[in-house]
Amino acid sequence: MNLAVFVSGRGSNLKAILENEELSKKITVKVIFSDKIDCGAFTMASQYQIPKYSISAVEKNGYISFAQVKSILSEKKIDLIVLAGYLKLIPAEIISDFQNKIINIHPALLPLFGGKGMYGMNVHKACYDSGMKVSGATVHFVDNTFDTGKIIFQKCTDISNVDGPEEIAKRVLHIEHEILPFVISKIADQKLKFEDDRIIIQN
Ligand code: GRF
Repeated sequence: MNLAVFVSGRGSNLKAILENEELSKKITVKVIFSDKIDCGAFTMASQYQIPKYSISAVEKNGYISFAQVKSILSEKKIDLIVLAGYLKLIPAEIISDFQNKIINIHPALLPLFGGKGMYGMNVHKACYDSGMKVSGATVHFVDNTFDTGKIIFQKCTDISNVDGPEEIAKRVLHIEHEILPFVISKIADQKLKFEDDRIIIQN
């Protein structure tokens, strides 16, 4: 299964995908896109010799357009798009070309603490301030708005004894690195079933 991974940050989720032995037998990361001209995830892309492109909705030196993204996705016969820390919306034309073939990892138990502006420490601060005793991570399908697509898988962690949002971030990131490769592997094995309005992951 051919993957395109969209990133914006340090790339720890990309790293979790690339370093997962089991997964590497089922998938190939063919291309990496970012809204940034450079980021930690791009450094990783270079280490793995994976082609990388910076995207801009407006003409800019060193950036490609979403029209060019579309042709790269088809040229590389991409089966699954993974948003791993990508902070922008995916254009509707790509969403419609990739129905139920774009997934995102969110560092909270959606639908809580999701939506526009809810990324990075904003999420963990909101969770901490809410007094919640659990947090966790969510992998979901991507639709036209932030963090609202169908939930595929979630895993939670106890945060009743944390001393601040940073500790929540640490515990949740650990879960992200576990569940994102897990879901990608299940998709590669065609183990996702749609029952009513819910998604069931088969063994
Ligand atoms: C992760 O916390 C992810 O949940 C969120 O953005 C962050 C990306 O981190 N979408 P990294 O770039 O994968 O380290």
